Amino acid sequence: MIKVAILGYGTVGSGVFEVIRKNKDAITGKLGDEVQVKYVLDLREFEGDPVQEVLVHDVDTILNDPEVAVVCETMGGERPAYDFTKRALESGKSVCTSNKELVEKHGPELLQIAKAHNCSYLFEASVGGGIPIIRPLRTSLAQEEILSITGILNGTTNYILTKMETEGLAFEDVLKRAQEKGYAEKNPDADILGFDACRKISILTSLAYGKNVDFHDITTEGITAITDSDFAYAKKMGATIKLFAKSVKKDNKYYAIVAPFIVKPENPLYAVKGVFNAILVNCNMGGETMYYGKGAGKLATASAVVADVLDCARHIGKHLDVKWEDEKLEISPIDGAVRRFFVRAASTDAAQIKELFGDVELFSDVVPDEIGFVTEEMSEAEYKEKAAKLGNVLSMIRVD
Ligand code: HSE
Repeated sequence: MIKVAILGYGTVGSGVFEVIRKNKDAITGKLGDEVQVKYVLDLREFEGDPVQEVLVHDVDTILNDPEVAVVCETMGGERPAYDFTKRALESGKSVCTSNKELVEKHGPELLQIAKAHNCSYLFEASVGGGIPIIRPLRTSLAQEEILSITGILNGTTNYILTKMETEGLAFEDVLKRAQEKGYAEKNPDADILGFDACRKISILTSLAYGKNVDFHDITTEGITAITDSDFAYAKKMGATIKLFAKSVKKDNKYYAIVAPFIVKPENPLYAVKGVFNAILVNCNMGGETMYYGKGAGKLATASAVVADVLDCARHIGKHLDVKWEDEKLEISPIDGAVRRFFVRAASTDAAQIKELFGDVELFSDVVPDEIGFVTEEMSEAEYKEKAAKLGNVLSMIRVD
C-alpha cells in the first residue's frame, strides 16, 4: 500500500483525491499496489465531503508520519508550499506538484534536495495541465537534441484569439465573455500579457537543455494589441493568429520568446482551438512530435499529478533524475532571431515599402488607408532598422 498526502484541497487537490478514489481499480491494476490517501491538509472544514475523514490542519502530522511516501503539493503559490515541499523532501518523501510558480522559481534547488534524500520531485502538472510534456522531455526525448519547442501554453488567450477569429469579436468583448463564463480570471493580466506562458516555456526550456532559464530573459508580449483588423489580414493570408511560447536552439545559441504569431494551416498548432493547449517539439533525429490536450482544469491537472504519484510509487527509496542544473542558460538577445514579419503601415506608398523590404506581396484592400505586407526572413534587429526607416509602421506580428 502506497500512502499519500495531499497539501491543499482546492481545485487541483480535490481533483487528485477524486482521481485516486474513482480510478482505484485502474491504478491498483497498473501499479500492482494500492494508492491510499492517508491525509489531506487544509485549513478549512468540508462537512459532508468524504475528505473530512482524512482531513488534517497541521502539516507536521503528515511530515512526521513515516508511512507517508508521497506528498502531492497542490497548494499553489510560493509560500508556504516551498517550506512544506523542502521539509517533505528532506524527510525522504517524494513530492508531486502542479505548482508552476514554485517549480519555475525553485526547481533546481528542490531537485537537488530530492536527490540528496533518495526521493523525487516531479511536476508534470505544472506545464500544460493534463498534457504529458515534462515526462516526454525527461525520458522519451532524452536521447535527442531539441531544436525547438513551440507551445500554445495558455488556454485563456487561445480561447480569446479563437473567438476573435471565428466570431469577429473585439479583444475586450471576448475577454469580458470569457470572464463571465469563468474561463478567464477576474485579473487576467498574467494570461493576456503573456507572463503565464512565459513561466511555462521557461520550465520547458530549462528541461530541454538541463540548465536554468531566467524567465526575465524571455521577450514577452501578450495579445492585448491584437485587433479584428489583424485577423482580417490573417484571413486574407489563409492564416490565423496564435500566442506562441517558443524556444529555439540555433548555431549553439538559445532564443526564447512569447508573442502573437501569424500561423499557417501547415503548422499542426494551427488546429489547436479554444482553451486547448499543445506543444510541438522539433528534435534533430526524430523530427517533430506534438502533445495536445487540456492545459488546465481540475481533473486533467489532477490526473497528471497522479501519474507522477505512480512514478514515485514505482521508485520508492530511489531518486528519479530530472536534469535541471542551477547553472544559467544564456538566452541570446532576441535581435539575433531570424524570421518573417507581418507589418501594417499607414502608407499607400508601395514603392517606399518595396525599396526597403524588397519585392514583398502587398495587401492594400483589407483596411482603408494602410498597407499590410510580409517581409522576407531577416533578423529582429534588421527588421527594427527597416521599420524605423519606413517610419509609419502601425503594428507588427511575427510569422511562424
Ligand atoms: N490561466 C492558465 C491558462 C491556466 O489560461 O491556461 C493555468 O496555467
